[in-house]
Amino acid sequence: MARNNHIFSLDIGTSKIRVIIGEVYNGSLNIVGVGTADTSGMSKGKIVNQEQVARSIQAAVQNAERMVDLVIDSVYLSINGSHIGLQSAKRGYGFGRDVEISDNEIDKVLKVAKLVNLPTEREIIDIIPNCYIVDGVDNILDPRGMIGGSLEVDATLITGQTTHIQNLIGCVKRANLKILGLALAPIGAGELVLSEDEKQMGTILVDIGAGSTSIGIFKNGRLLSTSVLPIGGELVTNDISICLDVDRETAEKLKLKFGCALVEDAEKDQVFRIKTRLDNREREASQVELADIIEPRVEEMLLYILKEIGEQEFDTEGFGFVLTGGTVLLPGIVKHAQYVLGTPVRIAAPQFIGVKDASFTTSVGVIAYVSKYIRSRKIDSTAPTIRTSSPDRSLPPQDASKKKGNVFDKIVEWFREIFD
Ligand SMILES: Nc1ncnc2c1ncn2[C@@H]1O[C@H](COP(=O)(O)OP(=O)(O)OP(=O)(O)O)[C@@H](O)[C@H]1O
Ligand SMILES: [Mg+2]
Repeated sequence: MARNNHIFSLDIGTSKIRVIIGEVYNGSLNIVGVGTADTSGMSKGKIVNQEQVARSIQAAVQNAERMVDLVIDSVYLSINGSHIGLQSAKRGYGFGRDVEISDNEIDKVLKVAKLVNLPTEREIIDIIPNCYIVDGVDNILDPRGMIGGSLEVDATLITGQTTHIQNLIGCVKRANLKILGLALAPIGAGELVLSEDEKQMGTILVDIGAGSTSIGIFKNGRLLSTSVLPIGGELVTNDISICLDVDRETAEKLKLKFGCALVEDAEKDQVFRIKTRLDNREREASQVELADIIEPRVEEMLLYILKEIGEQEFDTEGFGFVLTGGTVLLPGIVKHAQYVLGTPVRIAAPQFIGVKDASFTTSVGVIAYVSKYIRSRKIDSTAPTIRTSSPDRSLPPQDASKKKGNVFDKIVEWFREIFD
């Protein structure tokens, strides 16, 4: 099978690793392969054991490769975390004469926009152009083909803490995969499940996973802020395990089979038998009893999310909520969220066969984001791009750190790249 139309994404979640194979054919995107594996070595969205995570990645890759006649040796990787920061950058340069703007000028202006002074412990993950300005004319989405003497870009720079980024990259390299680029999880997810209208009018996208919850706030077509909280479905499983006195595995199974986020929606006739850990006693429990445990924890998580949103410096009054991530598969969660958040809420999931599940939103979102970018820029999907990663990404971590000079060296290097 030819591989040049294929895009591979990797999402390292607290409970599951997901590898997705996307194929762009005649301009439209399809998902042609999926590989998942249980994750070891992660806690609350953070890496705690690189070797275990690397082995989990390899298992997911092998499962994906089994589905299609392809070797997966390079991936686009989703990245997230409370260390992520967004900042605006509006920069440009003059050509000295009128020229027809091409990908070349766009690449250069994006590099110019990356010339910011960052603390040594932070680095740029990605740059998202919001619009371009040609000879002072604003709000141009695609300046290619226009004639002008200067080009500016109004962009959002995504930065992250170097140690976090290198730890993530280290796991992927240990799994013998090359990284073609990094994609910020809420941007990928937003690309996949939010409409242009939602992103324009104001929408809060909340991905409730197993160990972390990611919040992306969109307005005027762009991501305004992102934050990650160390809460998710694992807390619900823990509560069930403690309250019913069963092991975590049993608690997880009970949650998936009988769980309900609202007592008023639970069926008292829905009963099941459990064996308690302490005295090895068998007894009957009901869905209402289970919902009694789940409801307060879900409410607490929703209030925590609301508090986090309230702490942003901009007004989110009237913004809609879109929920995604594995935990939103819990029956009754939409109604519960509507009560607590006081606004209509919808659940979003990918609409491709084989991945129609809210826990796949980020991994499929990365494919959607990369494919849209690649389509619009008409470049080979296997080629690394300047928007998604720095050239250091293909080096082992120790080499990458060796390449780092001081800020002045970096600036000189960038200028050389831009104007050579
Ligand atoms: N049908 C279901 N009902 C209730 N909870 C579910 C259901 N399916 C999955 N979950 C829960 O969703 C969580 C997994 O979600 P997801 O796969 O989005 O997380 P992750 O990406 O592995 O982790 P994170 O994003 O937090 O790092 C688990 O806690 C799991 O129990
Ligand atoms: Mg996740």
